[in-house]
Amino acid sequence: MSDTTGPETTDNTLNLVAFAGSFREGSFNRAALRAAIDNAPTGVKITEIDIRDVPFYDGDVENAGDPSSVKRLKNAVRASDGLLIFTPEYNGGSSAVAKNAIDWLSRDVDGTGSPLSGKAVAIAAATPGGRGAPEARAHLIHVIGFMTDRLFMETLGIKSVYEKVDEQNRLTDEATVADLTGWLERFRDHVSGPHEDHEAA
Ligand SMILES: Cc1cc2nc3c(=O)[nH]c(=O)nc-3n(C[C@H](O)[C@H](O)[C@H](O)COP(=O)(O)O)c2cc1C
Repeated sequence: MSDTTGPETTDNTLNLVAFAGSFREGSFNRAALRAAIDNAPTGVKITEIDIRDVPFYDGDVENAGDPSSVKRLKNAVRASDGLLIFTPEYNGGSSAVAKNAIDWLSRDVDGTGSPLSGKAVAIAAATPGGRGAPEARAHLIHVIGFMTDRLFMETLGIKSVYEKVDEQNRLTDEATVADLTGWLERFRDHVSGPHEDHEAA
């Protein structure tokens, strides 16, 4: 797991973990994740989980014991106050690697429950396209809705993302960063608040 984190924390800090559903170096979704870390609202610390070493789900591998990369992923999510997923949209759905990580996380192999059970989860998607990847977001809302009653129904779409990053692939567009921080503030309130359903955005 990466030790990329945001500002210093206090005792009341909410510890969120986040992964990007893209392996490529120049991923816009990882750029958005890193911007979330750097622009986390007051009281929130975000830690990136690197899922690039998580293998394809295989029941035989699972039966032999979760690989160390899967254990790390599950332990990080289990220990967190909430999970952020930044997924690309591929052909009207999430990326396969994001779905694969979720499939591992859905599994209860040691009787302690799925790490996603009862977990607060929020979904974002960045795309060069002009629609903000609504199908990828809806896909993961559908999938994760089966696993937790604390899914944050307000998703965040970042469209035309190539216009919003600098030469180092940092998400620097001020309005987009403000939208990201505002969304994280509302997720923070969702995480801190009572368990209840939220209206879809
Ligand atoms: C196989 C494939 C299918 C794609 N399908 C979509 C799509 O349905 N909607 C969309 O907005 N972008 C689509 N794209 C473009 C991706 O959004 C774009 O490659 C994006 O940069 C991937 O995310 P990343 O930058 O985090 O790697 C597709 C790209 C690939 C390679």
